[in-house]
Amino acid sequence: MESAIPRHLQCPRTLQRRVDDGYTPPFPAWTARPSRPGQTIVMALLGVQACGAHAERDACAGLRQIVAGLHAHGAPLHCDVAHQVDECGYVTMIAITYWRDVAAYDAWAGRPDIDAWWRAPARLTDGVGWFREVLAPAEQRYETLFSAPDRLEAGGAALGRLSQEIMEHGYWGSMRDRLPLSQTDPLSASGALTIIDGAPGPGARVRVAGHANLAVIRSGQDWSDTAGEERRLYCDNIAPVLRAGMDFLRDAGTSVGCYANRYMQQRDVAGRPVEKTFGLSYWHSLTELERWAESHATHVAIFGTFMQVVQELNFALRLRLYHEVAVLTSGQQRYEYVNCHARSGILNGLPRES
Ligand code: HEM
Repeated sequence: MESAIPRHLQCPRTLQRRVDDGYTPPFPAWTARPSRPGQTIVMALLGVQACGAHAERDACAGLRQIVAGLHAHGAPLHCDVAHQVDECGYVTMIAITYWRDVAAYDAWAGRPDIDAWWRAPARLTDGVGWFREVLAPAEQRYETLFSAPDRLEAGGAALGRLSQEIMEHGYWGSMRDRLPLSQTDPLSASGALTIIDGAPGPGARVRVAGHANLAVIRSGQDWSDTAGEERRLYCDNIAPVLRAGMDFLRDAGTSVGCYANRYMQQRDVAGRPVEKTFGLSYWHSLTELERWAESHATHVAIFGTFMQVVQELNFALRLRLYHEVAVLTSGQQRYEYVNCHARSGILNGLPRES
């Protein structure tokens, strides 16, 4: 058993963990480790949205353009493709790409053909909306959690290594305790989302600045290996409650500090749905994300069912859960939307005129 915080980032705590040193987690979990100290991860969401009679076809065609641009010029370390219909009825498809660092992402985005495509006036008139959400947390501001040790996902797949079993999990507040910076910093949010330039909405480009200590979570579920009673429990008892929790965050999230939530279905390279979903949400602060996880009836219920199933199956669970969390400085976030509706992604969290 080891700490989730890598040794080179451990320091004397000025802020205490929620549990004492004698705490033993009730079930095992692991975290992803960088292949080399100091290695960071950049998560770039490259998305397209479409509405109308041919929304699925148009969004798929848009995603193919994005993916072709990636393949042609130095692929990212890891890429997932996912699909969702958002709160305004727009089909949204995203290539969630992971890069070694900002320089690697910028080298791709700055290539003359990729850059010219992104800036072209045609992006405002080709019938779909495009967006890029780029998150580049320092390693002190990023943590991951895996319920199984044999399949890395998301940023963990890009980092490439897994820890031994970790101590800081299985209790409310453990997400914070896994973040290296939380040893000495309360990670309090300050500032507000602001428009850098442009305007939200169809026919326009807009860039938005994030604020200090905005929190992002991608929390994934993979039920492809489940069978029998465990599968029935996941599909009948857990998944519907999860959807209710995700719908709440999508439709009423701003009331609890969640700027935007996407509950997405992953697809394979041929575009077919696979048995993997994830919630991806942007939060005003880590504290509000903690509060939702600990108190919202939907998450409390799925947490309870998970704990019950873990015990019934004597820890031999085939349902895989993972998450990655980043708490970002304002300089570690970039958001740009082109011809997108005014509630797309982080735009949903912009202060509204009354
Ligand atoms: C933590 C279950 C989906 C947000 C946890 C933990 C469990 C769990 C067992 C404790 C993990 C540990 O520390 O060992 C589930 C199940 C889900 C699910 C069964 C779906 C089937 C989600 C989603 C979100 C989310 C989609 C996205 C907002 C959180 C957060 C924590 C957490 C923020 C950390 C709480 C803290 O440490 O204070 N969940 N979860 N969960 N979950 Fe979920």
